[in-house]
Amino acid sequence: MCGIIGCVGVSGAAGALIKGLKGLEYRGYDSGGIGVLGKNGLGVVKAVGEIKNLENKLRSGAPEGSLGIGHTRWATHGAASKANAHPQLSRRFAVVHNGIIENAAELKESLLMSGFSFTSETDTEVIPKLLELNYTGSALEAIKKTLPLLKGSYALGIICTEEPDALYCAKNGSPLLVGRGAGGCFICSDPAPLSEFASEAAVLEDGEAARLTKSGAEFYGADFSPMEKPLRSLGKAGGISEKNGFEHFMLKEIYEQPAAVAATLESVTDENGIRLPDIGLSSEDFRRLSRIYLVGCGSAYHAALMAKYFFEKTALIPCFAEYAGEFRYESPVLDESCLVVIISQSGETADSLAALKLARERGAKTLSVVNVEQSSVARMSGGRLLTLAGTETAVATTKAFTCQCVMLDMLCLHAALCRGAISPVFAKIAVDMCLRLPQKIERILEAHDEIQSLADELKSAELCFFLGRNADYAAALEGALKLKEISYINCIGCAASELKHGTISLIEEGTPCIGLIGSRAAAPKTLSNIREVITRGARATLLAPEGLERELSRHARVIPYPDTIPLFAPLLEAVPLQLLAYYTAKEKGLPIDKPRNLAKSVTVE
Ligand code: M6R
Repeated sequence: MCGIIGCVGVSGAAGALIKGLKGLEYRGYDSGGIGVLGKNGLGVVKAVGEIKNLENKLRSGAPEGSLGIGHTRWATHGAASKANAHPQLSRRFAVVHNGIIENAAELKESLLMSGFSFTSETDTEVIPKLLELNYTGSALEAIKKTLPLLKGSYALGIICTEEPDALYCAKNGSPLLVGRGAGGCFICSDPAPLSEFASEAAVLEDGEAARLTKSGAEFYGADFSPMEKPLRSLGKAGGISEKNGFEHFMLKEIYEQPAAVAATLESVTDENGIRLPDIGLSSEDFRRLSRIYLVGCGSAYHAALMAKYFFEKTALIPCFAEYAGEFRYESPVLDESCLVVIISQSGETADSLAALKLARERGAKTLSVVNVEQSSVARMSGGRLLTLAGTETAVATTKAFTCQCVMLDMLCLHAALCRGAISPVFAKIAVDMCLRLPQKIERILEAHDEIQSLADELKSAELCFFLGRNADYAAALEGALKLKEISYINCIGCAASELKHGTISLIEEGTPCIGLIGSRAAAPKTLSNIREVITRGARATLLAPEGLERELSRHARVIPYPDTIPLFAPLLEAVPLQLLAYYTAKEKGLPIDKPRNLAKSVTVE
């Protein structure tokens, strides 16, 4: 994971680096570090933990200079310590790195034999040492000789103390942009923080490298021959998000959902119903599809699983929801009759990107549902549907998830129409129902008292169950992930039907169980499973559409949510579950926006 930034020609480089690192902190917050080259030489400052710790350290004296690199780390090799923070150094070189050098152990062994010593446990440290070994008077030549020795993924920012006016960068597998702004030139892992400094940028492709000076950038192709690469306007990259009065980004983003979902729906509908942008797939293509794979990680996988039920029921097409990290190492039978849809907020998740590459190699049609327009997934997929959630900063995804759900719903209705599985009248009614979801989410957000009191009960729980059937099962998985991710409570999302095949043995007196009931039709079966856990002492709460409270409250506490058609109910269920996770973590006094061990964007496999 990790985020990197660099600048050249920027007076007070340290300040710009810190600003950029704050915008990259979602990529990891185990440690931060900067290296600035100025008239006093290379100044390196590192701190363990969040970027604010680094910022505090700099208050007592920041290194001066206009050339610098910065790093925020999610530890892969070596603990979150100062020694393992970046930049990693050799005599002349300072390097920041996002990615994993898979052959670091072998490289380190041979470097040790060549007389180098190491001060960190990182895989990265081999890079400055190799650069040193390969240096014969030109940093560019040293980089050219070093890169082919590295196996694995990297986005690199490199400073050589012999060249105080040049910033170098290279990319393979991890994202990197080169930008130019009024003050100088920049590199950055993400367009949003880059847009704070640069008005135009180019996305580096795998194998490419660049040399940046105050006045511009020179690019090099895979064989290190110079190449032309135009810089384009960065457009609306989102910028660095602010809390705007909310205590946490997560709460702000939960409350942004009505607007985000409405904007996403508006982008794919008009007065006649669904109006998708050109996704490179004709009606005939949809008719000819033999199956659809919906692929993502974490919450994006849950959105995929929810949509799978929708696609099979409505578009009458075999559909599989897959974890990207599993899919890429399975042997999926893919050909041009398959559509692989990659779902990702960041568009930089390593496993999702690898799944996309696999699908392309195997000749499948590809489409992405993605929130970051300039991301690798968006750029590499055959077609793309952009969710308009805006910048999401909290590690726990909320608005991006619900936007993925509605986008997949619209894609499903479009596919169903193309395949003649539903009538235009049915599609129009479904779209109209979907367009009412933002108001319904608003109503859920207004009525958060009951959720808060449930959170108060949950804060002391050690185990919590989320139960549902079919698409409600997907919502159960999402509810469980959200709660465990930020409250550190052991949560199990379980298909209600599966409980008595083993898992029910975990139920004890007082175990909290949250049952999800998406519709009147689903109620009897799920309720019967809930009664089984109540019989064994569980403390049950049901999330159910309005209108069912009277009937259900004879069995358990009911938290109602606005009624909709069953297909959209799981999306609405996700919202109170987000609030539940938020308030529980808040009751426990935990770092909600940056839970331990996590990063927002998982750019390593
Ligand atoms: O950026 P992506 O949507 O590809 O990220 C996928 C997951 O890492 C992400 O959804 C993760 O599970 C969230 N932290 C869950 O809240």
